[in-house]
Amino acid sequence: MAESSPPSRPPAATREQRRANDELWSRRDLVKAYATRDLRPVEVMLLVRYREALSGRVLELGCGAGRLTGYLAEIASTAHGIDVSPAMVEFCRRTYPKAAVSEGDLRDMSALQTGSFDVIVATYDVIDVLDDDDRTACSTGCIACSRRIGF
Ligand SMILES: C[S@@+](CC[C@H](N)C(=O)[O-])C[C@H]1O[C@@H](n2cnc3c(N)ncnc32)[C@H](O)[C@@H]1O
Repeated sequence: MAESSPPSRPPAATREQRRANDELWSRRDLVKAYATRDLRPVEVMLLVRYREALSGRVLELGCGAGRLTGYLAEIASTAHGIDVSPAMVEFCRRTYPKAAVSEGDLRDMSALQTGSFDVIVATYDVIDVLDDDDRTACSTGCIACSRRIGF
């Protein structure tokens, strides 16, 4: 019988980085820094160029205070934002009631139904809040729950 290898454990530096990220994004005072409707040129281009694709069921990763979510909710048949920060989620829900917003961790997207989204978007360097291993877990989750992904 083949020997099973021990479960891999992230190195101390990775664990420390994750802890620092989690601590950062749990801060309630960060909401006001992201509570705007201002878009960057690339985001405007994304909304225009992919207007048709974005008219379906859209998932936004790390939606924050809903800077982009508010626009997605206007054009998508359903716009669903997930974010790990309860304060961001609370603000986003209150401000953009047309969007479905839930607390969720990009490192484990198993709570989202398989194939439930047509498109996934993640803007403003959201993916960079994750290290390489967590990014792989996130990509696996994205592939399971959608057909198209754009970061
Ligand atoms: C740079 S902000 C961008 C917010 C928003 N997308 C925007 O463009 O204004 C990163 C967001 O990712 C969220 N975040 C950080 N780590 C996360 C994780 N592991 N799972 C889900 N969201 C996370 C933070 O709470 C924060 O709202």
